[in-house]
Amino acid sequence: MSSAQTPRKILVTSALPYANGSIHLGHLVEYIQTDIWVRFQKMQGNTVHYVCADDTHGTPIMLRAEKEGVTPEALIEAVHKEHFADFSEFLVDFDNYYSTNAPENKALSQDIYKKLKAAGKIATKTIEQFYDPVKNMFLPDRFIKGECPKCHAKDQYGDSCEVCGATYNPTELINAYSAVSGAAPVRKETEHYFFKLSECEPFLKDWTRSGTLQGEAANKMGEWFENGLNDWDISRDAPYFGFEIPDAPGKYFYVWLDAPIGYMASFKNLCQAKGLDFDEYWSKESQTELYHFIGKDILYFHALFWPATLEFSGHRKPTQIFAHGFLTVNGEKMSKSRGTFITARSYLDHIKNPEYLRYYYAAKLNSTMEDIDLNLEDFVARVNSDLVGKYINIASRTAGFINKRFDGRLKASQANPVIAEMKSAAARIAEAYDHRDYGKALREVMSLADQANGFVAEAAPWVMAKQDGQETQLQQVCSDALEMFRLLTLYLKPVLPKLASEIELFLNIAPLTWESVTASLAQDHQINVYEHLITRVDAKLIEAMTEANKENLLATPAPQPHSEQRHAAHQQNDANAEATEAEYISIDDFTKVDLRIAKIVNAEHVEGAEKLLKLTLDIGEQKPRQVFAGIKSAYDPATLVGRLTVMVVNLAPRKMKFGMSEGMVLAASDERGGPFILSPDTGAQLGMRVK
Ligand code: MSP
Ligand code: ZN
Repeated sequence: MSSAQTPRKILVTSALPYANGSIHLGHLVEYIQTDIWVRFQKMQGNTVHYVCADDTHGTPIMLRAEKEGVTPEALIEAVHKEHFADFSEFLVDFDNYYSTNAPENKALSQDIYKKLKAAGKIATKTIEQFYDPVKNMFLPDRFIKGECPKCHAKDQYGDSCEVCGATYNPTELINAYSAVSGAAPVRKETEHYFFKLSECEPFLKDWTRSGTLQGEAANKMGEWFENGLNDWDISRDAPYFGFEIPDAPGKYFYVWLDAPIGYMASFKNLCQAKGLDFDEYWSKESQTELYHFIGKDILYFHALFWPATLEFSGHRKPTQIFAHGFLTVNGEKMSKSRGTFITARSYLDHIKNPEYLRYYYAAKLNSTMEDIDLNLEDFVARVNSDLVGKYINIASRTAGFINKRFDGRLKASQANPVIAEMKSAAARIAEAYDHRDYGKALREVMSLADQANGFVAEAAPWVMAKQDGQETQLQQVCSDALEMFRLLTLYLKPVLPKLASEIELFLNIAPLTWESVTASLAQDHQINVYEHLITRVDAKLIEAMTEANKENLLATPAPQPHSEQRHAAHQQNDANAEATEAEYISIDDFTKVDLRIAKIVNAEHVEGAEKLLKLTLDIGEQKPRQVFAGIKSAYDPATLVGRLTVMVVNLAPRKMKFGMSEGMVLAASDERGGPFILSPDTGAQLGMRVK
């Protein structure tokens, strides 16, 4: 058993959640998985530091802050508070929860960059990228939209089509437009900085064979090697919310460069607070262990970029990377329309007890990258039958007798075979936790709980209590049951830390560690009064929760794209999940479109344009608007002058070949004919709002 060995020094991380969205039940798979492992290792007597942080940089966060009219710093500070509160309430016990937008991270990122440069691993290259001429910024793929080149679905993202699933380059989109301003993007040259990942292949191949990865992850790596490694683009042009690259004004580190360095920065910050030695954990010679818990979608970053970054900047590499699968709810991707896109906060508001979810996830988790399913019906059944029906039941059926009849005093157990069996299971359970096979650990624990219940049912203390002369036996049976309860509590403590500490109070014992397996409740030990410890989950609460999350869909604006430029090998991310689910728009979305009655005061042909007419539209503003409309095939410009029509007034201006287009005129068309310009009914006046 590991507790007999010398204590290990372990640094553990979970992936840093993006600072532009709320923590949801999908995220929690990871943080709960990591927290259980950390708590288990601490119970073993190992020295463990568990650090995390918000991932704060990048275009989506910059744009969201702008949209909300706040600085990015103010936005990430508010989100940090929210995330930290969510994690705390789910009993995820970080030793430090920091931010990537911190001085330690800036210094470390710049230092690592300089070392990579000195090692000859940085190159510059001029590339062509899409540029938004209205916003004056380069556009990440996710911020370019247009018509799918394969199936012609409208409004698809620059990297893939959500309708037909095709992947492509943003250059292939038809009628591409900027999701930021609506302007047609232009191609523009810019110098970018690259990390020469292609040169790191021999090192990475070696490292992959060193047993650092799970089998499935190593296979994935094999595929990536087969396709050949490309150099990694690590710079972005201003405007960008991030750290400037040393000696490269106007160039910033791409968010994924400084994000994993955020693990180091969070730990460095902890070192300052606790007087720990940073180098003991990060130097090339480090004897300590380093584990990263991540989701399978970000394996590419952690198994390729990150070890290469560490190696060529003179640092230690991770001991192991633990990738887990994705959460599904009721067998499907989390969905806003089904109400299964559930935030951490919404769970707490409705179900309240975080340990139910911790228990359920633990029961489902193993060490593979398989997806895990939260079946809401099964969740209720499982929690009620295991936690209430099996585990707590042992104390609730026996503690009362000890309290009432024996002044809370216990008898030491005497060679009870069930207790012996329970103690002998400790090593097996420890091994399962250590290997992240929590499902196996809990199956063991619940089978022990079954044996304990069998023992209580057979002894039937409630019958003894009614008979004379059975006092000693009654006290012995109930004491033994409570000793069993103590052992089960110990085994469940990594998963149910709050309940365990309440039970430690009730049993009047010191905090349980793994070593407490060898101890026992002593003769005459006095326990406290048993109070109700847990209630059953009510299925109605689940229904209320999913209902409430359905309403969210109609009440809140569509989500922002979530993550910038994930590697093409893992398209599956929440941004995609959310986008496919947006089958409805909310009333708020609709009212964002400013429609007005406009008078066509002039209409003319445009030289060199096959389809367009240039319209001048009066909507009662000082200056009339100029709009290029694709209606030439159907209208003689002269017949249009003086007509009223409906115009989209707040469409972002688009720079077209022939000039700026400052809005849009509504017209109907399909294969049966058109375009037909819409006209208001008699009586409508120019400038009136259409709603
Ligand atoms: N910011 C990056 C990580 C940088 S680490 C240096 C990121 N953030 S995230 O917020 O999108 O995800 C954080 C973690 O939660 C990731 O490990 C991700 O895999 C995990 N999960 C996010 N959604 C998930 C599910 N639906 N299911 C399981 N895990 C999920 O990626
Ligand atoms: Zn398509």
